[in-house]
Amino acid sequence: MPTKDIAAIILAAGKGTRMKSPLPKVLHEVAGWSLLRHAMSAALALKPVRVMTVVGENMEAVQAEARAVYSDVECVVQEKQLGTGHAVRQAMPKLKTFKGTVLVLYADTPLIRPETLKKLVASLEKQKAAVAVLGFEAGDAAEYGRLVTEGGNLLEIVEHKDATAEQRALTLCNSGVMAISGAKATELLGALTNKNAKGEYYLTDVVKIARGKDYGYTWVRAEEAEVLGVNSQAERAAAETRMQEHMRREAMAGGVMLVAPETVFFAADTKLATGVKVEPYVVFGVGVKVEAGVEIRAFSHITGAHIRKNAVVGPFARLRPGADIGEDAKIGNFVEIKQAKLHKGVKASHLTYIGDAEIGAESNLGAGTVTCNYDGYNKHRTEIGAEVFIGSNTSLVAPVKIGDGAIVGAGSTITKDVDPDARAINKMPQENTPGRGGAIRKLQEKKAGAKGKNYL
Ligand code: UD1
Ligand code: CA
Repeated sequence: MPTKDIAAIILAAGKGTRMKSPLPKVLHEVAGWSLLRHAMSAALALKPVRVMTVVGENMEAVQAEARAVYSDVECVVQEKQLGTGHAVRQAMPKLKTFKGTVLVLYADTPLIRPETLKKLVASLEKQKAAVAVLGFEAGDAAEYGRLVTEGGNLLEIVEHKDATAEQRALTLCNSGVMAISGAKATELLGALTNKNAKGEYYLTDVVKIARGKDYGYTWVRAEEAEVLGVNSQAERAAAETRMQEHMRREAMAGGVMLVAPETVFFAADTKLATGVKVEPYVVFGVGVKVEAGVEIRAFSHITGAHIRKNAVVGPFARLRPGADIGEDAKIGNFVEIKQAKLHKGVKASHLTYIGDAEIGAESNLGAGTVTCNYDGYNKHRTEIGAEVFIGSNTSLVAPVKIGDGAIVGAGSTITKDVDPDARAINKMPQENTPGRGGAIRKLQEKKAGAKGKNYL
């Protein structure tokens, strides 16, 4: 285990031109989290004393995301993207007196695990090295930097663009994660030059520089799946596939029943208790917690929701942020719920919208119940007590309160509060006219000119 203080530097200033997207690369998502959030979260698990994110100029959105992930983050601006080494250099003035371990991560490497980072830092400390590099054996080495070794010992890292044909044939690659001794970091980074194929200051050159100075350096092996770098849309998708596979395996190992795991998509923070059952084609957005015994039926879309014990959700349910589904509740098909607390045993079985509301225990919402929460300017709340019965096709025009035990008749538009145990109903009186139906039919048939033709 690492013992020294850690200062984490996460590089996120690159434009990510290979993504061909107006969105900065590090804000692209994998499993509902930005690439930046993944990298920062892995680093935060090591409890660093300083966390710095290097961002480009005019990258307010990236800075905002960094702060959303960790409010104490120090954002360092790299005005021009002159390379990964140049990016780390921008953070060095803040670490002049830092004697711990500098841990550098690239924000475009979302699958990295904290355990691997710990291993790297521990190896730097144990070997009293100036630099420790995280390498991996690549299935397709593509444009990764290559670790040039001799008898297992690292000599240098050669970037793909600068590599000879012989070096390009090497399959041991650089993941981009690096640990540097804080006492040596300023000196090593200060010695970087940009005399190379890209005309950039490569962070990877610190290995060569450490060797020249006779400082110790080392490397640690990681699994390829963990260090996939995202540079293009296809690589983002590949990282998504890997992460989804990993999360499905973890869920099942934790006793979650996934009927067809390959059709279920998780967010990085999805929490499913043991004994949850998930039917095919379910998508989880961020911020979902599901308690034991819950059944999530096919084709449901769930984000920011808490589903309590033994509730049943779906098929075709949509739970949006702030949906709090009580124990034993039943949320059926084509039901949408957002910012609403449903207490124990509430039933909304079909075709319903509940927004900005609280529904008391054991209440039943008939098909087509709609909370009219928005007047075009503001959102308003609907409060429904316990054991209330709302008849089908009812509009509840918020703000409105329905007392415990009240009954609302089908087809009502409720604009006034309803007292406990009251019955509320408002609909047009029904008129039945004898013979009128037959007369209309005859008239229409005459117009259509052919008896028996379906005129409707
Ligand atoms: C880099 C490594 C390569 C490694 C690969 C692993 C260097 C020179 N090369 O190449 O050895 O195999 O990662 O994925 O380090 N960034 C900045 N400022 C800059 C340039 C980049 O902040 O001036 C950031 C980017 O936002 C990105 C990260 O650094 O998060 C890596 O940059 P990128 O251009 O993707 O490097 P690669 O070409 O992938
Ligand atoms: Ca990259």
